[in-house]
Amino acid sequence: MEILELMKQRHSVRQYKDIAVVSKQRTVLNELIEKINHDAGLHIQIFYDEPQCFDSMKARYGHFAGVKNYIALVGKKSPQMDEVLGYYGEEIVLKIQELGLNSCWVAVTHGKSKADICKDEKELCLIAFGHGETQGVPHKDKPLQAVCNYTENMPEWFLNGVEAALLAPTAMNQQKFFFELSSDGTVNASCGRGFYTKLDFGIVKYHFEMGSGRKV
Ligand SMILES: Cc1cc2nc3c(=O)[nH]c(=O)nc-3n(C[C@H](O)[C@H](O)[C@H](O)COP(=O)(O)O)c2cc1C
Repeated sequence: MEILELMKQRHSVRQYKDIAVVSKQRTVLNELIEKINHDAGLHIQIFYDEPQCFDSMKARYGHFAGVKNYIALVGKKSPQMDEVLGYYGEEIVLKIQELGLNSCWVAVTHGKSKADICKDEKELCLIAFGHGETQGVPHKDKPLQAVCNYTENMPEWFLNGVEAALLAPTAMNQQKFFFELSSDGTVNASCGRGFYTKLDFGIVKYHFEMGSGRKV
């Protein structure tokens, strides 16, 4: 399936059915995570059939139910860590969608994960996943003019990138990012200030690159 179609189908899902992730799906996700960890020097970990992390007050308050599978986004502390984990985390999220499963990024409303976190590392966020009770609902988008220097007759690749960026999940749907197309055809991407905006920025960059076919 086209990546833009997967982006359109993906919505946050917080309630899950009691159906196990099958071994074929596990193999795909395990191999992707192994490759990402190897290539990007990260320590992302995946947990199946582990209900305790989301069996907490915080998770219930956040309307999570039936979560038994999750991914812990762990990396070495550095100024780039948030953006890198966002970028690769979203690659995993779209793979989860391609496998016919559902997901939700969760920075706050979860309990303690089983992740192994070394001294110089940090667990930044989790991704809950599994067979959703529903497929979720589309989020509200900011207008194009609020997230890029929109003018008439912009190249299609750039608009495809911005459209993909608007489909990206962001913390509290804040969509604090901006893509600027210069007259020489280069793209300058920037992120606003606030909670998890750097993590969001990595997610959004992944969407822009996949949508436009160009690196930022
Ligand atoms: C970095 C990040 C952190 C998030 N943390 C939480 C969270 O703690 N609890 C929660 O219920 N949703 C969380 N979300 C999900 C967002 O609320 C959701 O992505 C946003 O409202 C857009 O909706 P959508 O994912 O359905 O497109 C988080 C999303 C991101 C990207």
